[in-house]
Amino acid sequence: MERPSRSSVERSTPPLTGLPAGFRFGASTASYQIEGGVMADGRGPSVWDTFCAEPGRVRDGSSGAEACDHYHRWAEDVALMRGLGLDGYRFSIAWPRVLPAGSGEVNAAGLAFYDRLVDALLEAGVAPMATLFHWDLPQPLEDGGGWLSRATAERFAEYAAVVGEALGDRVARWVTVNEPNVVTMLGYATGVHAPGRTLMFDALPAAHHLLLGHGLAVQALRAAGAKAVGCANNHTPVVAGTDSQADRDAADLYDTLWNRLFAEPMLLGSYPAGFGDLMPGPVADDLATIAAPLDFYGVNYYNPTRVAAPGTDLTPIGQTPSGDLPFVLVELDGYDRTGFGWAVVPDGLRDMLLQLRERYGDRLPSVTITESGCAYDDPVEADGIHDDRRIAYLDGHLRAVEEAVSAGVDVDGYYTWSLLDNFEWAEGYTQRFGLVHVDYATQRRTPKDSYDWYARVIRARR
Ligand code: NOJ
Repeated sequence: MERPSRSSVERSTPPLTGLPAGFRFGASTASYQIEGGVMADGRGPSVWDTFCAEPGRVRDGSSGAEACDHYHRWAEDVALMRGLGLDGYRFSIAWPRVLPAGSGEVNAAGLAFYDRLVDALLEAGVAPMATLFHWDLPQPLEDGGGWLSRATAERFAEYAAVVGEALGDRVARWVTVNEPNVVTMLGYATGVHAPGRTLMFDALPAAHHLLLGHGLAVQALRAAGAKAVGCANNHTPVVAGTDSQADRDAADLYDTLWNRLFAEPMLLGSYPAGFGDLMPGPVADDLATIAAPLDFYGVNYYNPTRVAAPGTDLTPIGQTPSGDLPFVLVELDGYDRTGFGWAVVPDGLRDMLLQLRERYGDRLPSVTITESGCAYDDPVEADGIHDDRRIAYLDGHLRAVEEAVSAGVDVDGYYTWSLLDNFEWAEGYTQRFGLVHVDYATQRRTPKDSYDWYARVIRARR
């Protein structure tokens, strides 16, 4: 690990005094994005191994086969977390390491990896937050229908029971499914992510089974003695392209599909009007399972989304999926952009938190920001990596959380995405989100200026 000689950012950041006592500062990662070691110790194939092997799926033709080699370098990575003084670390467990066929026989060597990791985190004073599913579905389950099949939700509950029993005595917080909306939309509707299906509205059963899997996993984890269980839903405030009725209708539909379709079953036990009829049954019984009260509601936030009706004169954004959809995602004007091209809008995080509180009132448990961060490609210089834009981004978003807290929203933590630069799905290694730079040729880790800044913010709070 190489430390920059200009080791800390001399910047006078006013302390974050508006965050509640006990607020947790963390960082997040996910198995397929950092671990590598895809053939190690009996891991089975996942949908992402398959997807990456198909030409044209990933921008730079890469895969997570090696990624950050965290599977072998985890001790060095835990030392980096200790250096930050993190309160918590959110990582995900690779289902195909624990159950290579997706169900049935448990691979003890795969489970042992997470056992060692959890112990090392506790030893470093970092509370482990484990996500059960961050997109690396065992390929044999996809072959049986993947999330379009109810059986996958049932297998997920069995897997949750296995890891809950193995790690539940030490893992502080559990997340069931990471971003079920992204899995549905990008994985099954538009095919930008694995498994690459392009079912458009016929992807809706995947949403239901992901939600059912969540509810069944909550039960299984609690039965195994889990200390705290929550979710990690991606939320975006949706703004209409213009004031026209057509744009406002398109924005409403997008908001329903992206935000409400996933939050409402979990928090209210119901689907937005009209959607329950489109789901595979028994919907009413399943909703009772899905709506089990949570210990925390995890939110991943990146930016607001501006939506217009098809045929708009506004500029569509690059990530707009092709195909016949009743909405178009368009550029948000007037904001700085990250290296990825995403608008930097800290107020969107505040507004989204206020909107959750307004929509769900007392049904909303304590909120944890389970992901928030930005990609920038700052060069490695002789005296370090000066990612001032990331510092400004994180500072702005933490202040947005402060504002939401002072307006009465209960927010208990902020986990930045990400600890390390890593494999950014269909973007391959082209987007760097880390507090720590990774040289993929040598696997050398170099903390960026933002790493020192975050460590100082955490220390200042103590
Ligand atoms: C959310 C996803 O959970 C994570 O895997 C991804 O890298 C970030 N968004 C950035 O796109």
